Amino acid sequence: TGLITLDPGYGNTGACTSAITFIDGEKGILRYRGYPIEQLAKSSSFIEVAWLLIFGKLPNQAELDVFRERLTRNAPLHESFKHHFEGFLVDSPPMAILSAMVNTIACFPSQNECDGSDEECFAEDAARLISKVRTIAAYSYRRAMGLPFNYPDPKLSYVANFLHMMFSMPYDQHVADPEVVDALNLILLLHADHEQNCSTSTVRTVGSSQANLYASCAAAVGALWGPLHGGANVAVLEMLEKIHKGGISAADALKLAKDHTSGFRLMGFGHRVYKNFDPRAKILKQSADKVLAQLGVKDPLLDVARQLEEMALKDSYFVERKLYPNVDFYSGIIMRAIGIPTNMFTVLFAIGRMPGWIAQWREQNEDPKRRIARPRQIYTGPNVTDYVPIEQRK
Ligand code: CMC
Repeated sequence: TGLITLDPGYGNTGACTSAITFIDGEKGILRYRGYPIEQLAKSSSFIEVAWLLIFGKLPNQAELDVFRERLTRNAPLHESFKHHFEGFLVDSPPMAILSAMVNTIACFPSQNECDGSDEECFAEDAARLISKVRTIAAYSYRRAMGLPFNYPDPKLSYVANFLHMMFSMPYDQHVADPEVVDALNLILLLHADHEQNCSTSTVRTVGSSQANLYASCAAAVGALWGPLHGGANVAVLEMLEKIHKGGISAADALKLAKDHTSGFRLMGFGHRVYKNFDPRAKILKQSADKVLAQLGVKDPLLDVARQLEEMALKDSYFVERKLYPNVDFYSGIIMRAIGIPTNMFTVLFAIGRMPGWIAQWREQNEDPKRRIARPRQIYTGPNVTDYVPIEQRK
């Protein structure tokens, strides 16, 4: 074991080479395929960015049209697939349903019209997953609420279609507000990839055994669910609710977060890689201010969030440890303001991260140096111990 270096959480271990996403945590830089996140956030869309991440360049008009057609064709679920949702109890966590159903896609024949070349088939599979994850996500919510499913509408954009499947009623077609569509598009775009985070390294780990794309991404949904990763956006809202309902002041909440014995952390603060600021959080803060003003939202939880943000940014504990609000802090605030139910926040993160997972799965598969993921350990258990028959055990 002398040769094995212990690196808990792999903070200093490079497990792969990648040409997809560049991060400089000290300078707060994030680029997808070389394009600064600020430029993409300003000028691009989630669908275009998905293509960029997966295929390595911005699509031309013809390529984008083919991709859109593929997304539209793949949006509905097979009718038998729909019955799977009925097996879940109403109130089931949508992330549990999402993970199970992403895996289930592999059980259904695709309407794959690819010409047989690997490139074409992969493009079709990628579109199938990006499109179906949105339908599955909306159906998970409808199931959790005990509501009937809405078929996707081919006339709607990616985000507007999601909102329609989530919120339309048989007697009332949901028409999405353009500001809400833009805000959600931005949230998805900013979540689309983030190099070797917990869920993405899960995709690579599972994919390294040559498991299929659906199984690899289903495992990633599980990784994303945890409150230290994608589940942080839900944890932020739960924390704000607890503070507000419990009549706790922002100052007392900060005191609790600084006390390591309290078991309480300020959710939505801190990042393993960004040690000055999270560039996605910076963009979303601006968007949050704009959306909240445009929609005229008044919400006591948002006031609590503002107070925490303001006080933590001045507090030496947070400043010294370089703990700044992260993307989940503001995405949670925006999603609440635009009416996305809290239990769907992490599901939306999963929809956004899907292009990154697909791109990373593919990059690994194409790497001639790929090996099965198989970390080592430093054993700390007992030395050789002789078996004791049960009647002689204490
Ligand atoms: N509140 C209070 N103290 C904190 C926090 C926090 N949110 N985050 C880190 N610390 C302290 C921590 O206790 C430690 O203190 P000390 O040096 O005295 O022991 C120090 O800061 C370093 O923390 P760490 O746990 O070694 O940092 P990490 O890189 O292992 O963890 C993190 C990063 C994001 C898991 C952590 O900051 C955290 O738990 N944040 C809250 C959850 C959250 O918002 N997660 C979303 C991350 S961004 C998007 C995503 O990946 O999904």
